[in-house]
Amino acid sequence: MTSELIIARHIESRVLTMSKFYITTAIHYVNDDPHIGHMYENIVADVMARHRRRMGDDVRFLTGTDEHGQKIERAAAKEGVSPIELADRVVKTHHDLDKRINISYDDFIRTTEPRQHIGVLELFRRIQERNPEDIYLGEHSGWYCQSEETFVPENQVKDGVDQDGHKVEWTTERNYFFKLSAYTHRLLAHYREHPGFVWPPTRLNEVVAFVEQGLKDLSISRSSIKWGIPFPGNPDHVIYVWFDALTNYISALGFGSADDAMFQRYWPADIHLVGKDIVRFHAVYWPAFLMAAGVELPKRVVGHGFWLRDQLKISKSLGNVVRPYNIIDDFGPDALRYYVTREMVFGQDQDYSDQSLLTRYNADLANDLGNTLSRAITMSSNYFGGKTPPTPCDDNDLLRKAKEVVPEYLRNMDELAFQRAHETAWELLSAINSYIVTREPWKHFKEKGADETLSRVIWNALEALRIVWVMEAPFMPGSTREALSRLGAPVDRIETSALEWGGLPVDTPVRVADPIFPRVDIAQYMGEKRMEETKQPETAAPPVETTQAVPPGIAKISIDQFMETDLRVAEIRAAERVPKSKKLIKMSVFTGEDERTIVAGIGTVYAPEDLVGRKVVIVANLQPAKLMGVESNGMVLAASINGEPSLVSVDASVPAGTKVR
Ligand code: MSP
Repeated sequence: MTSELIIARHIESRVLTMSKFYITTAIHYVNDDPHIGHMYENIVADVMARHRRRMGDDVRFLTGTDEHGQKIERAAAKEGVSPIELADRVVKTHHDLDKRINISYDDFIRTTEPRQHIGVLELFRRIQERNPEDIYLGEHSGWYCQSEETFVPENQVKDGVDQDGHKVEWTTERNYFFKLSAYTHRLLAHYREHPGFVWPPTRLNEVVAFVEQGLKDLSISRSSIKWGIPFPGNPDHVIYVWFDALTNYISALGFGSADDAMFQRYWPADIHLVGKDIVRFHAVYWPAFLMAAGVELPKRVVGHGFWLRDQLKISKSLGNVVRPYNIIDDFGPDALRYYVTREMVFGQDQDYSDQSLLTRYNADLANDLGNTLSRAITMSSNYFGGKTPPTPCDDNDLLRKAKEVVPEYLRNMDELAFQRAHETAWELLSAINSYIVTREPWKHFKEKGADETLSRVIWNALEALRIVWVMEAPFMPGSTREALSRLGAPVDRIETSALEWGGLPVDTPVRVADPIFPRVDIAQYMGEKRMEETKQPETAAPPVETTQAVPPGIAKISIDQFMETDLRVAEIRAAERVPKSKKLIKMSVFTGEDERTIVAGIGTVYAPEDLVGRKVVIVANLQPAKLMGVESNGMVLAASINGEPSLVSVDASVPAGTKVR
C-alpha cells in the first residue's frame, strides 16, 4: 500500500470509527503543589488530545483536582487553614502550571464543585435502585493505609508497610460497604472479552491476578472524617474518597444533572490515563461501581510509569519531589514536553534529572532540530531573496523517506509509543542533514547560482523539515508554530493532511531569526542553579518541634555544626546585573568588617536599584565560588516561593555585622 493511501485510510477510518475521543487524567490531590509526575501525566494526555484533534476527532480532555478526604483534611490542619482554603490555593498552582506548559484541556473539575456532588449522589442512587443489596452497613477489620486511604490485602503487608513502603495500621471500622465480592466473575469476564481494557498488558496481568484472588467488599464510607460528601441517609459518614474521586469522570459531563448532553455525547471515556499505582482503582473498583449502577464502562485504562529520583518514585511522601519550574522558565515548556515524552519509554519508569534533560535539549533540540532549521532557512533566504524557493519537487530521496516514516509515526502515535514517534521524526531529520551535506547547496550556488536544481534541493529540505515539525506538533505546539511560521508554512490548521508531501508554499517569505532552542552551557547553568537552590531553601516555614522522622536526604545537624555558620546582617552598597544572565545580580555588601562581592540569583524578582541600601542576612564564611566568571564571597539568604526568591530582611536599624542566630 502506498503511504498516501495509508494516511488516507488512517484519516478515513478515524472519521468513520473514532469520531469522539474522551480522555481524562487522574485528578490530582491538593495536599501539595504539582510535581514532575503530575506534569508528565498532563503532558501525555495533552499530546494525545492534540493528536486526536488534528485527526478530526471530537475531543474532550478532562483534568482536575481531588480535594476531599483525610489526606487533604490533615494537610490543611497542619498548615492551620481550612481544607477548602488549602484546595483553593493549590488548585491555582495547577491552573498556572497547566497554562505554562500549554495543557489544552477542555474542562477542569474540582471535586468540591456542586456538579461533582450531584454526580456522586446520582451514581450512588442508581446503585441503590438497581442493586439495593450492594450497599450495606457492616464491620471490617484489616490493614489500612492512611496515605493511600485504602485497605491493603494481608499478603501485601510486611513489617507494618505495604508494597510501596507506606505505613499500614490494623483498623476496625463500622462502615457502609459496597459488595465488590459479587463482581469478581463479571470483572474477569470483562477483562477476557476486552483485553485492551487495561494497557500495557503487564498492568492487565496484575489486575487479573489481583481479581482472581477473590475480591473483598469495599468500605465506601468514613465516619472518622468530616471533609467529604455526606453519606446519603447517614450524615455522620462521608462518602469514601475514591468513590467520590472516580465519579469525577462522569460528573464533569453533567451526569445526574438536568442537562446531561455532554454525558450522552462523550461517555464512555476512551482513555483514563493514570499512573500505575492507581490502575487498580480504575480497572477494578470503578468498573464495578459502574456495573452496579448500569452505566457503560470506560474503554481503556492506560497506566503510565513513574518518574524516579535515584530509583525512588518521586512523591511528596518520600520528600524527593522535583518541580522543574526553572527549566520551564529558562528553556520554555517544549523543552520539558519533549524530554518527558522522548526520554521515558511510555509505560515504564524513568529517572529524572535536570542534567539529562539539558543534555537532550542540547543534542536533540538545539543541535539537530534547531540548527537544521536555521541552516535551511538561512540558505533559502540567502539564495532566493528572503523567500522559499520558486520550484517545488515531487520526486526525490527526502520525499521517499517522508513517505516511509509518516505511516510508521502514525502507528506509533496510535500505539502510545511516543518515544518511537519522536525517533521516526528524527529519522527524517537525519535524512535531511545527509541530503544537505551530499548536495552541497552552498557550492552549487557559488558555481551555478540560484538555478532550478538549487531551488528543488532547498525546497525539498524545507518541505521535509516542515513535515518533521508537523510530526512534533502535539509534543511541542508552541515551537512548531514558530518554526512553521519561519518556514513560511501555514500555522493554523495543522491537520493530519499536513503530514503529506507538498504543503510548503513556493516563493513565500521565510524568517531568519535567533535559534528557537539556544544552546545551553550545562555546567555553568547547573552551577548557577545549584547556587540559587542553596541560597533559597524551600523550607520557608518556621522550624517546629517534631517527633517525625526527618525526610530522606535532609540530615539533622548539631548545634555546634550550626554555630559554624557565620550568619550576619549586611548592607548592600551597590548592585548591578551580571551580563548575559537573567537571574544573577552582583552586589557589593558591607559585612561590618569588610566590603565584598556577593552574587545572587535574585534578578528575576529584584532590580539592582531596589537593592541598594537594603539590609540583608548573609552567610559570611562560605568558600568563594565563581558564577558566570564573577567571584562570589558569601550568600544572601532568601526564601523560595515556587522558585521565586524573597529576600530575608531585618529592620533597617540593625547595624551591619550583627550576628544572626
Ligand atoms: N487523587 C488520586 C487520583 C484520583 S483519580 C480518580 C491520586 N492523586 S495524586 O496526586 O497522588 O496522583 C495523580 C497522578 O499523578 C496519578 O496518576 C499518579 O500515578 C501520578 N503520579 C504521581 N507521582 C508520580 C510520579 N513520580 N511519576 C509519574 N506519575 C506519578 O492518586
